[in-house]
Amino acid sequence: MRVGRETPPVDVRATERTRRRYERLSAYYDRFEGMSEKRYRPWRLKLWRQVFGPRVLEVGVGTGKNMPYWPDRVGVTAIDLTPGMLALARRRAGQLRLNPDLRLGDVQALDFPDASFDTAVATFVFCSVPDPVLGLRELARVVRPGGQILLLEHMRPDHPLLARITDVLNPIVVQLVGANLNRRTLDNARLAGLHVRQVEGLAMAGMFKFITAHN
Ligand SMILES: C[S@@+](CC[C@H](N)C(=O)[O-])C[C@H]1O[C@@H](n2cnc3c(N)ncnc32)[C@H](O)[C@@H]1O
Repeated sequence: MRVGRETPPVDVRATERTRRRYERLSAYYDRFEGMSEKRYRPWRLKLWRQVFGPRVLEVGVGTGKNMPYWPDRVGVTAIDLTPGMLALARRRAGQLRLNPDLRLGDVQALDFPDASFDTAVATFVFCSVPDPVLGLRELARVVRPGGQILLLEHMRPDHPLLARITDVLNPIVVQLVGANLNRRTLDNARLAGLHVRQVEGLAMAGMFKFITAHN
């Protein structure tokens, strides 16, 4: 069920391109991200400590790197656009003896009724969603009033010179790995109608941020 203002249609071709890029990447994604993961670990832990349930949605679950941090007390539904990534998430869930509801899905058009979840989480996802505002609006829709949306994302840095560098490098990086370096994710959250409660710059002149928001 969708209520409220008209939503623009999903750009099917751009979404398919993203899916194909991540499908290609899926086989070596964990190895490729191995170095960064050391840095991400405390950030993931911090985010998941803030999660409350009982109903939690993780979008863009990827290969399931957040799974070790999922709290026992909540039930997680997790979606991803890319079958190859989701297959690895399934395998990781099995290894960790978790039994989440894992589904293929597009955050730009979520297949859940309004107010289905207490918390929605995305980590390093909105850099690659073709229409991030549409996706963030969907998170606002499926989270209940009084719920929360937690985002751990990299984005265009606050420092002007670094920001320019990400603008220049962006087309190459998108072609290679499907992620944008210069997304304005904080602005996008506000454009999507989210009320941003807290923003924490984590590293690299605000390139990495932890955003806490509600609808
Ligand atoms: C950089 S990976 C991050 C994976 C994971 N969240 C993590 O922290 O390691 C981005 C993930 O977002 C997924 N993704 C991209 N666009 C999406 C969309 N429109 N809907 C759902 N997932 C999407 C990709 O398939 C990929 O698995």
